Amino acid sequence: MGSLIFFLAFVSFHSALVTCAPFTEFLYPNFTASFLQFVDRGGTFLLSRNETFRAAIFNPGAQQTRFYLCVIHSDSNTIIWSANRNAPVSNSGKMMLTSRGINITELDGDSKWSTPSLQSLVSALQLNEAGNLVLLDQSNATLWESYRYPTDTIVIGQVLPFGTTLYSAVSSDDLSSGDYSLALTASNAILQWQDMTYWKLSMDTGAFTNSNYAVDYMAINGTGLYLFSHKGSAIVIQVNLPPSGFRTAKLDYTGQFSIRSFSGADQKQDFVGPDDSCRIPYVCGRLGLCSNGARAYPPQCTCPSNFHVSLQNTTYCVPIDNSYSLPLSCNSTNSSINLNFSTVSYVRLGYGVDYFSNDFNMPAKYGVNLSVCQDLCSGDCACFGVFYENSSGSCYVLENEVGSIMYLNIPDSGRLGYIKTLVGPSPKNYGDNKDSNGQTLGFPVVALVLLPFTGLVILIVLGSVLWRRSRLPRMGKIKTSHSNSPSGDLEAFSIPGLPVRFEHEELEAATENFKTQIGSGGFGAVYKGMLPDKILVAVKKINNLGIQGKKDFCTEIAIIGNIHHINLVKLKGYCAQGRHRLLVYEYMNRGSLDRSLFGNGPVLEWQERVEIALGAVRGLAYLHSGCEHKIIHCDVKPENILLHNQFQAKLSDFGLSKLLTPEQSSLFTTMRGTRGYLAPEWLTNSAISDKTDVYSFGMVLLEIVSGRKNCPLRSRSHSLDDCSSSGGGSSTSSTQGLVYFPLFALEMHEQGRYLELADPRLEGRVTSEEVKKFVCVALCCVHEDPALRPNMVSVVGMLEGDLPLCEPRVESLNFLRFYGLRFAEASTIEEAGGNSDVLHLQANTPHTSTMTGSHTCFSYISSQQISGPR
Ligand SMILES: *[C@@H]1O[C@H](CO)[C@@H](O)[C@H](O)[C@H]1NC(C)=O
Ligand SMILES: *[C@@H]1O[C@H](CO)[C@@H](O)[C@H](O)[C@H]1NC(C)=O
Ligand SMILES: *[C@@H]1O[C@H](CO)[C@@H](O)[C@H](O)[C@H]1NC(C)=O
Ligand SMILES: *[C@@H]1O[C@H](CO)[C@@H](O)[C@H](O)[C@H]1NC(C)=O
Ligand SMILES: *[C@@H]1O[C@H](CO)[C@@H](O)[C@H](O)[C@H]1NC(C)=O
Ligand SMILES: *[C@@H]1O[C@H](CO)[C@@H](O)[C@H](O)[C@H]1NC(C)=O
Ligand SMILES: *[C@@H]1O[C@H](CO)[C@@H](O)[C@H](O)[C@H]1NC(C)=O
Ligand SMILES: *[C@@H]1O[C@H](CO)[C@@H](O)[C@H](O)[C@H]1NC(C)=O
Ligand SMILES: *[C@@H]1O[C@H](CO)[C@@H](O)[C@H](O)[C@H]1NC(C)=O
Ligand SMILES: *[C@@H]1O[C@H](CO)[C@@H](O)[C@H](O)[C@H]1NC(C)=O
Ligand SMILES: *[C@@H]1O[C@H](CO)[C@@H](O)[C@H](O)[C@H]1NC(C)=O
Repeated sequence: MGSLIFFLAFVSFHSALVTCAPFTEFLYPNFTASFLQFVDRGGTFLLSRNETFRAAIFNPGAQQTRFYLCVIHSDSNTIIWSANRNAPVSNSGKMMLTSRGINITELDGDSKWSTPSLQSLVSALQLNEAGNLVLLDQSNATLWESYRYPTDTIVIGQVLPFGTTLYSAVSSDDLSSGDYSLALTASNAILQWQDMTYWKLSMDTGAFTNSNYAVDYMAINGTGLYLFSHKGSAIVIQVNLPPSGFRTAKLDYTGQFSIRSFSGADQKQDFVGPDDSCRIPYVCGRLGLCSNGARAYPPQCTCPSNFHVSLQNTTYCVPIDNSYSLPLSCNSTNSSINLNFSTVSYVRLGYGVDYFSNDFNMPAKYGVNLSVCQDLCSGDCACFGVFYENSSGSCYVLENEVGSIMYLNIPDSGRLGYIKTLVGPSPKNYGDNKDSNGQTLGFPVVALVLLPFTGLVILIVLGSVLWRRSRLPRMGKIKTSHSNSPSGDLEAFSIPGLPVRFEHEELEAATENFKTQIGSGGFGAVYKGMLPDKILVAVKKINNLGIQGKKDFCTEIAIIGNIHHINLVKLKGYCAQGRHRLLVYEYMNRGSLDRSLFGNGPVLEWQERVEIALGAVRGLAYLHSGCEHKIIHCDVKPENILLHNQFQAKLSDFGLSKLLTPEQSSLFTTMRGTRGYLAPEWLTNSAISDKTDVYSFGMVLLEIVSGRKNCPLRSRSHSLDDCSSSGGGSSTSSTQGLVYFPLFALEMHEQGRYLELADPRLEGRVTSEEVKKFVCVALCCVHEDPALRPNMVSVVGMLEGDLPLCEPRVESLNFLRFYGLRFAEASTIEEAGGNSDVLHLQANTPHTSTMTGSHTCFSYISSQQISGPR
């Protein structure tokens, strides 16, 4: 019937109208369009100049009941905006352009949607080449634009301002606002369902937090997704994406935020969050048990033990025993029954399950027993269950609406879930007793896929491994040719991405013939300089260079020069002329962290220490997983953390270890300066990995806490004060003997006496909780077993408070006791004129560090080099 009318209408309109060709770029008032009028063009009545976008009265999914005024990307047929998403019209509903704006009406004249009242009369409607639908006045000024009213998508050129929310559609063919939303907070982009957060951008491994400024807007461009602070002055969070000419960021009706790039009709997913689809709150319906979410969308949906699919509604799981029912919502007229304690019972979910909101909400109560936790829920009509963590007595309540349960691939999440039920006429003790019975109905056996998913159009979901790879940024992509031209002339080849090349004379002039030395490191001295445009720079003169060939040097420089992150010192240029090898860096006006931390200047306040630690860890996280060439720093220490202005911290010297060769004569010096931060695997045959940097960072974090060296280098003056103080302001160092601070930290951690570890100069301006956070993270970082150390991205999460604090594992920290012992002995030996370098350096056979691919730090270490005489 419907299709007959459709057919007749089609024929009549088609023959009645002389032309149905869409207009290009502009429309003028007293224009009307309906789907039927432009039916042979799929409803398209307006094209952008190059026809990249079209505006149409469109019926997504080819259903015949809901027509929307849409802006559509022509090649891919992707809707990027819709006007009347919550008020669709029929195929003869009209879009009218008048001098008062756009008005969408149903056939009977009933207005469904219109633009707000405008300041002056409309003279034209334009669809521009960026997909923005704009109402213009007589002087071509913008009166209204679709970019300012995003629905579920933003495109390149469009911004999502703070305070604006994207709402998912209900389904692929019903564009009305669904239950999932994307909003910006002061520091993040979050996804929500029923006012509960289920995902944060910052927790994605591909997202890098650059600064703590307040978020002003979100935008995408050809190379990334960004949260910007006020007017784009700084990047707060960035996600690097492969270069693309056109891409969209969309909150899909599935509840996932995805970024896709388009090339012709092809599309590719560059990013998706949450990447584990079991973290989508309603993915398996009410109380559905979700598994295998990390691998595919849709995931596998079943009901938890003790539950089965409801006969009334196939998107619900309900208790198998039908004398139990799920509570009604608070607003229901029968809700008072929910408050009747004696009618409430709890059905325990199986082991290894969790609920999405537990990771984002604080527990409602700590340190209570299960019955107190359940009573809390029984007395609250909005509560439908609890998750209880036995080890800490934490009680998480599940409120408002019931979502899906996540099945974890680990036997025990530490939390057990209890679903509130109302008991029917014959109450009996349900729950724990029946639990064993329910367990046997493990969900892989009941491979019941809930119905709603059978009808879903399955999106092209690349395996998570695939897309993860594909979204790695393509920075400074360089083809290294291995032709042997050791003294190749720079002009003879060109390497893309090289920073500015300087003549040696230019740098001589800039530094006034290397007059002011501001530092020295394993690679050579650093001088202050000023370029002709009055910009201050730091010029590093590299003495002992491993790579001789100019081309190889330049290849490395091009890589380093293409790494941009706010917490990494920027390489501005280089000089490779004759035997000279110089690097030009941005100038950091507050020098290195060791000066502020250990010097006699004003004491670093705790908040400043927090900022510095966060900066350093973000920089490292970026090196480890943010750029195409994974870079292991190899030399993380306070000397390589530089400060600028308001304690903005940046890492320096990254990427340089690749310039060294095994025979480096400077190696010993480098190692010597750094040994307090060297991970144990340097001395064993273990592989050097990013976890090696994590160890060094842990050591630095302890020094940031205490404000003193973990292990000072002996100076000839035998001033050992730093190392002998046991913290807490004690000055009886000489009597106490030497204390190895990391060991002291472990001991104080075991006794919960964190404040003893804080820099005494803070005089109590820090709380035990704050110190505990740093100490726990630091101790986890220095675990002897690299596999037990967190990665840098997790460290960022823990320090920012997005991830729970890790618990140091004493069995992997006992080596500190051994170090501590050696430390005391070593100092005694030194007092007696011995060689203190035996400390840490127990190795007595030559060691070859196992290298993994390009993650070479120092390629070869022998005990001779480590503990050899000097
Ligand atoms: C549009 O129509 C209105 C009333 O029908 C008329 O007053 C107005 O002049 C028309 N505008 C143009 C640009 O034709
Ligand atoms: C439209 O296409 C032409 C030719 O391909 C191109 O030169 C021009 O820049 C495009 N215009 C816009 C606004 O993209
Ligand atoms: C839209 O059309 C309806 C009915 O024709 C009318 O009542 C309403 O004022 C119009 N709105 C605008 C903004 O033109
Ligand atoms: C407005 O833009 C159109 C198309 O670009 C142009 O033809 C017209 O002259 C412009 N009008 C004014 C007042 O600038
Ligand atoms: C995208 O924006 C970032 C941050 O503003 C900028 O650094 C980058 O160059 C931009 N990329 C493109 C392709 O415009
Ligand atoms: C099932 O429940 C969902 C969510 O409450 C609701 O939208 C849907 O209409 C229900 N379906 C049936 C068949 O009752
Ligand atoms: C319950 O009622 C309150 C206020 O009357 C309303 O804001 C809320 O949305 C309602 N909740 C449900 C689940 O209907
Ligand atoms: C409310 O409770 C009464 C009796 O307890 C029952 O008959 C009725 O169906 C309930 N109403 C709803 C909406 O559940
Ligand atoms: C609470 O439950 C008891 C026993 O099941 C019953 O006698 C009583 O009427 C109930 N009270 C309410 C308010 O439903
Ligand atoms: C739980 O704790 C409460 C209050 O602390 C106490 O009264 C109750 O007996 C405890 N219940 C169990 C089962 O331990
Ligand atoms: C819960 O913790 C208590 C003490 O903290 C312990 O005795 C009990 O065995 C634990 N129960 C489970 C199920 O782990």
